[in-house]
Amino acid sequence: MIKTVKTVDLKDQRVIMRVDFNVPMKDGVVQDDTRIVAAIPTIKYILAQGARTLTLMSHLGDPAKDAEKAKAKAEKDGKPFDYDKYIKGKHRMAPVAAYLQKKLGKNVTVVFAGEDGCKGKKDFIDSQKPGTVIMLENTRFHKEETSKDPKELDKLAKALAEYGDIFVNDAFGTAHRDQASTASIAKFVPVSVAGLLMEKEVNYLEPIVTNPKKPLIAIIGGAKVSSKIAVLESLLKNSSALVIGGAMAYTFLKAQGKKIGKSMVEDDQIETANSILEAAKEAAVEIVLPVDHVGAEKFDAASKPVAVNNVNIPDNLIGMDVGPKTIALYKKVLATAKTIVWNGPVGVFEFDAFAKGTEEVAKLVAETTANGVITVVGGGDSVAAVNKFGLASKMSHVSTGGGASLELLEGKKLPGIEVTRVRDCYIAGNWKMHMTRSESAALAKALVKALKGGKHKYMVAPSFTAIHAVGEVIAGSNMLLGAQNCAAEEEGAHTGEVSVLQLKDLGVKVIILGHSERRHTYKEDDDLINRKVKLALKHGFEVILCVGETLEEREKGKLITVIKRQTEKGLVDVSEADISRVTIAYEPVWAIGTGKTATPENAQAAHKFIRGVIAKLYGELAAKQIVIQYGGSVKPENAAQLMAMEDIDGALVGGASLKAETFAPIAKF
Ligand code: PGA
Repeated sequence: MIKTVKTVDLKDQRVIMRVDFNVPMKDGVVQDDTRIVAAIPTIKYILAQGARTLTLMSHLGDPAKDAEKAKAKAEKDGKPFDYDKYIKGKHRMAPVAAYLQKKLGKNVTVVFAGEDGCKGKKDFIDSQKPGTVIMLENTRFHKEETSKDPKELDKLAKALAEYGDIFVNDAFGTAHRDQASTASIAKFVPVSVAGLLMEKEVNYLEPIVTNPKKPLIAIIGGAKVSSKIAVLESLLKNSSALVIGGAMAYTFLKAQGKKIGKSMVEDDQIETANSILEAAKEAAVEIVLPVDHVGAEKFDAASKPVAVNNVNIPDNLIGMDVGPKTIALYKKVLATAKTIVWNGPVGVFEFDAFAKGTEEVAKLVAETTANGVITVVGGGDSVAAVNKFGLASKMSHVSTGGGASLELLEGKKLPGIEVTRVRDCYIAGNWKMHMTRSESAALAKALVKALKGGKHKYMVAPSFTAIHAVGEVIAGSNMLLGAQNCAAEEEGAHTGEVSVLQLKDLGVKVIILGHSERRHTYKEDDDLINRKVKLALKHGFEVILCVGETLEEREKGKLITVIKRQTEKGLVDVSEADISRVTIAYEPVWAIGTGKTATPENAQAAHKFIRGVIAKLYGELAAKQIVIQYGGSVKPENAAQLMAMEDIDGALVGGASLKAETFAPIAKF
């Protein structure tokens, strides 16, 4: 969960906010104010809460790199190059400050802090009247801003941190950059939160990867397969269909043995295309490729469009757009969606003669929005397309970020977002070998009602025999479906086992692994548990990895050795990307089902230790973010006390999860 500006008291506070005012400029005039306008709600909100000062910082192009390019071009063309004039026209923030002043009106004062850079402005800022907005010069005039050296980043970050008691990051478009003003600053400011724009972006984009309203259909277009591999792989996990358009479709068609004429193709990506097609088949995700085309003899806006009525493109033509049969197919496929995400045009929409396919997609997506489908458009070109066709306001959400929205859809962690993240409180019920199918369904029904509106993250793990029934009851609720174990093999002759593929088929999202009853009664060792963890993660599940010492181990002083070993060995070969889907449950074996609970202080010490182990394996940020549940006789009476401890982020509940009357108070503590 990210922490937002709405959760902090801003009265009389000095706020330093990163915005994305990287707007196109010409001769010192703002050419497109979309990004400025997008930040205004947060600016107004902060001022309305009575902030003492609001200092804004942003980059505006990259002065050093851009000037070098412009100079080289001028030299090539034999023209003179005036550095100061160039920089003034394109990279100075003063005109942006003036523009913002106009937008905010007379009741707000916007001052520009000067062309001499972003450092040393504390006295200037503190001398302003309460409620003043201060705009700093372009952060990228400081080479530290984009440095790869953390020490350099910290130097500028520290200077910027002096201007605020609270850091607000509202610069979604730059959230994928690990830079001084987007991320490092959070180390030196007491509180870091997301702005309203950032919150909206995350709220629309993140669930597409983590928990979309299904069926999810993704439309991915654009020129290159190579730039979209990660997003295709990520979207395969949750989509029922992937619509692939744009020039990258020709690489897929060629991989299928179709004729693509002179169309753009990446021959070195044919294998990748094949493996994506294969993975889609395995995951039962429909891949929708063009079935007809609009071609041209030359890649030119003035070229005459030629209809190609079937999937094969003649040798003399370049594929430029999708044809009418394909659009009809899109219409049929999109009609089944509850969520649509669109990244990348399906044709050369910049040329009017070849814009029809993309325009029709924009219209179809807009229509589904009107029917209650969640529609999210991300990525520079598709955003440009919906703007061109005047349909932006008809979508649920049009992202302000190109690279940032793509990386979020790839399932990546974005530095500018992560600095505002706080750990979820995660309450899970482990029903063990209890209850019949109908009893389980009845409990699930009671929980759906009781946990409605609950603020934490919830999961229930019924017995295998009841998973299907419980899944049907909790569909669409705020509870995730869990399983208590899985086989270490994908399939085959394994009498008595249940595979990850079977669990996925039932809609299971989370698997509990290494529970003490599995370790001690069924003799599962660290190696077996690790194999299960890796397999579950490979198939897109979240995992709860249980660790904990027996009474004997505790009494012999082996607590630390045991939980360190179980954590490390359980996570062998688990990647940095996958650790975000792992929760650790610290469950002292002597406390499970015995009525004996660890004291909050003892449990806290163990949790802190486990967090330290994660820090060594995956770094400080991952350690800060991993959720560590406590398990072992959690009851309504002790839940709040345990969860109040700094490193205890929730609970894995056994006995008390078997009744709504005892689980609900824990879950809603
Ligand atoms: P308990 O079980 O709450 O009954 O102690 C916890 C667990 O085994 O996960």
